[in-house]
Amino acid sequence: MDKAKKTMKRYAPEWHVPASKMAKNTFNPIRKIVDGMKLTPNPDKEMIALSIGDPTVFGNMAPSEESENAVMKCMQDRKYNGYAPSIGYEKARAAVANYVSTPDTPVTARDVVLASGCSGAIDLAICVLANPGQNILIPRPGFSLYKTLADSLEIESRHYDLLPDRHWEADLDHMESLIDADTAAIVVNSPSNPCGSVYSKGHLQDILAVAERHKVPILSDDVYAHFVFEGHKYHSLASLTDTVPILSCGGLTKRFIVPGWRMGWVVVHDRKGIFDMEVRTGLVNLSQRILGPNTLIQAALEQILTQTPQSYFHKTVSIIQTNADLTYGMLKQIPGLEPVMPFGAMYMMVGIDMPKFPAFNDDLEFTEALVTEESVFCLPAKCFQYPNFFRIVLTLPKDKMAVACERIREFCMRHYQD
Ligand SMILES: Cc1ncc(COP(=O)(O)O)c(C=O)c1O
Repeated sequence: MDKAKKTMKRYAPEWHVPASKMAKNTFNPIRKIVDGMKLTPNPDKEMIALSIGDPTVFGNMAPSEESENAVMKCMQDRKYNGYAPSIGYEKARAAVANYVSTPDTPVTARDVVLASGCSGAIDLAICVLANPGQNILIPRPGFSLYKTLADSLEIESRHYDLLPDRHWEADLDHMESLIDADTAAIVVNSPSNPCGSVYSKGHLQDILAVAERHKVPILSDDVYAHFVFEGHKYHSLASLTDTVPILSCGGLTKRFIVPGWRMGWVVVHDRKGIFDMEVRTGLVNLSQRILGPNTLIQAALEQILTQTPQSYFHKTVSIIQTNADLTYGMLKQIPGLEPVMPFGAMYMMVGIDMPKFPAFNDDLEFTEALVTEESVFCLPAKCFQYPNFFRIVLTLPKDKMAVACERIREFCMRHYQD
């Protein structure tokens, strides 16, 4: 049959060029939902977008001077204009290994593959762990990329619930109930988008215990690693296990405030050598499909990671924490809203007591009307597969944040019915 097919001439009187199945299966829910929303701001009020997860857009946060100088120097050196190895320069991978290593979790350049942003790293990690027809467990509410990638690869995504009244900890019973023989990975994200949750050591250990019981590896989305408010402590999953194999996906994007530089990485944490048989080689193979991040940023990586002072990170976190305190304080007073205080990252989720706002059917209609009346745009949590919440970005200048909260208050007072 193959032979017949090979020799069969193509007869095509008309052009017909369909998109691939993969293209048709690729779907970004945020784009789809936002593009479908009626977003007509009130012409009398300046638009305030509390929806954009890009910390560079408001002008109050910039890369560190050290990062900028490192890249400029690499450009002037004229040594980094050619192709790098597909997994990244050895020196850059060693720099990432040093940056993420702790005495309990030592890794080397051999454990690191560079990628185009953390998204590229997550793509590599999902592709290397799961086949079409298998499933991965992902958090709900959660960052939408996991499902977008899984759908396009015909991998099933199964959502495990996060619990708002436990600061968005994972519902472990629910997580465990979703695991079957085809479960290829559990995705964990702490600190998290959209919740701003930061898991305690104990909770991370409980998640590891689930993975251990069922022998399922973890994909840890660590793009917000160390991004925690004062009084909270960041623990990486990898630092808490000797046995569960973990692919940790990270990058410069958030902590170094350079989302456009597209520098991400996958770090293999695997002290028992479980990934040695196939996964390590698989990652290298996959990295060869498309070369990884820009060579100038790779070349500058060691400087960026070692020279950026603690004061730089401190300043960013304190802007966000101040906004979180202010926003939580103001929204908590508003009848019908239930903000959940974040412990890190750059977002806050706010619950809507929908029956108290009978003018709206759901979070989508609520957030649409907030734009129409008050020119404040928050993402409906529908974008994160979660109902009756909206997500606020906390990276704005403080005065804008306060104006936005005040407008949300006026909007709610207008529509609230007890
Ligand atoms: C939880 C999470 N993971 C991954 C990413 C992707 O990061 P990058 O822009 O480096 O691809 C983001 C971006 O917002 C994110 O919020």
